[in-house]
Amino acid sequence: MPLNYLEETPPVTDALRAGVREDLPEIADITDAGLRAKVIEAWATALAGSSFARITDIPGAGNPDDFVLKRGSQADHLRGVAHFATLMVDEFRRTHPEAEVDRDVVLAGALCHDVGKAWEFDPVNQARWRDDPSRAGQPSLRHSVFGAHICLSVGLPEEIAHIALGHSLEGQHIGLSTECTIVRHADHTWWLVACSLGLLRPDTITHAGPTMRPRPLPGEPRAA
Ligand SMILES: [Fe+2]
Ligand SMILES: [Fe+2]
Repeated sequence: MPLNYLEETPPVTDALRAGVREDLPEIADITDAGLRAKVIEAWATALAGSSFARITDIPGAGNPDDFVLKRGSQADHLRGVAHFATLMVDEFRRTHPEAEVDRDVVLAGALCHDVGKAWEFDPVNQARWRDDPSRAGQPSLRHSVFGAHICLSVGLPEEIAHIALGHSLEGQHIGLSTECTIVRHADHTWWLVACSLGLLRPDTITHAGPTMRPRPLPGEPRAA
């Protein structure tokens, strides 16, 4: 049965919003109250249309079955990217205060960049796409594309939707804003460093490239 997202999505609840605030405490550091509320709304809306109740329920992975964390959820990734991205802003503000960057957009964009994973990682969606990939594709929309849709649909500015789209593979085909470039590098760095630290399942890191040599965690066998 093809999915009609608008007809089948339950309403956003306060419980969903409260869970988002708990899972991503960095939302409180967004200075613009309107932007803060819409970041919460974006995640609550994405969760309402999915099988997940919390961001911490979404598996910690870059893509389904690719760059999969041995331990941790999507919230660990989002918070890490938000920390990395705002550290970059703060460091350059210290050394080169003449450079213009919108810290709120970087922080909100980092917290929302993977909002589409509630859709792409949803086991119900994955089963539907697997069942007949010829019908709507597999996936029908990647998380970057669906995330941009969610951002625009809750009234987030195009700067944030652009980060949701441009942080990922799709970013190779468009010109990237300064804030998107910062989040994109924070995102990719987070995954590559996590890989090098041995935090990812070895069977999921083929895209890490030929130079990657992950260090085993204590107690794990060394590669032959
Ligand atoms: Fe992503
Ligand atoms: Fe990400």
